[in-house]
Amino acid sequence: MLPKEENEMLTRVGPGTPAGELLRRYWHPIAVSKELMEEQPTKAVRVLGEDLVLFRDKSGRLGLLGDRCSHRGASLLYGRIEERGIACAYHGWLYDVKGDCLECPVEPAGSKFHLTVKHPAYPVQEHLNLVWAYMGPVPAPVLTHYDTLFRKDGHRKIIVHPQLDCNWFQAMENSVDPAHLQILHQEFYGRGERQPVSTTRGFTDDVAQAEFYLTDHGVMKKRIYANGIVDEHPLLFPTILRQGPSTQLRTPIDDEHTMHIHVLFFPTEDGREPAESWDPPVKYSEPYKDPPNKLHPFTRYTLQHIIPQDHMAWETQGPIADRARERLATSDKGVGMLRELMKREIAKVARGEDPIGVHRDPNHPMIETNVDEGVRQMRSDARAPSEGSYRHDLAKLYQGRGEQEG
Ligand code: FES
Ligand SMILES: [Fe+2]
Repeated sequence: MLPKEENEMLTRVGPGTPAGELLRRYWHPIAVSKELMEEQPTKAVRVLGEDLVLFRDKSGRLGLLGDRCSHRGASLLYGRIEERGIACAYHGWLYDVKGDCLECPVEPAGSKFHLTVKHPAYPVQEHLNLVWAYMGPVPAPVLTHYDTLFRKDGHRKIIVHPQLDCNWFQAMENSVDPAHLQILHQEFYGRGERQPVSTTRGFTDDVAQAEFYLTDHGVMKKRIYANGIVDEHPLLFPTILRQGPSTQLRTPIDDEHTMHIHVLFFPTEDGREPAESWDPPVKYSEPYKDPPNKLHPFTRYTLQHIIPQDHMAWETQGPIADRARERLATSDKGVGMLRELMKREIAKVARGEDPIGVHRDPNHPMIETNVDEGVRQMRSDARAPSEGSYRHDLAKLYQGRGEQEG
């Protein structure tokens, strides 16, 4: 169990909170590029508890500004897009993508008043048809060169899951919880070709041992199967899970909501760079509960596949899980390790140091995240216990119906 204060420290994402400050040291995906259309070049986004407006000006520059105009607070979502930025619809204060106020049209001629106005603005960049934002102190680091996000020799697909209606840290704790795969996801495990000894145990006995170790970029979750096969799935601190071809990105919207995006990466066999490598197709998943906008117990999860099962487990823990009531057991070793890592990195940020996974050299070496395991699983006919479910899900994914597991 975790005292209330510690739970708050690990979960809250707003400005000035310990985890919020830590999360502000990283780039996070906040939207799909194509959501900013010519007909609709502004989009309201909530990120790390802050209400913001994303826009593309007529010069093609992307901006991310505080939603409420610095004048008297009207929303910039309805601002007029100009060559030089966005002009508030109310009285026309014109902001550029850096938040500098370029003009206050109703002020007297020759007024320099606009020079005194600085509107909240955050750097954004586009990568893989996603818009990424950095909301921490400048200078911003680079977007970390994880292999699945930066390797040239592969096809990619993006899947945008329905909004996750709970705190981000529940999804991250799940990333270091190897035990649930064999139980929660048992219907999809082994492609339905094997039956578990019982539905209570599921396929738990397939796994001889689970281990965890810290890496330079997070926590490695390792399963050693009874048949000798080993899989290793890295949690890339603080918001990413890597597994097989998937990179699961979790962006905290606020304390009780999270964006959940998969980037799938499939290396080409001959090492060539496919034309769409940097321009991957984007698919939006159907809702995982009905009605889709309600919380448990006023909605019912569909459980039609693995990710919906995960969403059920994470959301029904509560909008922010009450960890004062939990009973951690042997199988939760990875969860404990992740919490300790969070505390260590939060302390680093408080001391003014960069936390792990933050890189400032634009040419820093590619960071390997075990892509080979995914390749082996895709290309091999070997039947590792986890590979059955993996291949089954991959096939579904190609048909646009499912995703894979961590
Ligand atoms: S409220 Fe935006 S210009 Fe007045
Ligand atoms: Fe899962």
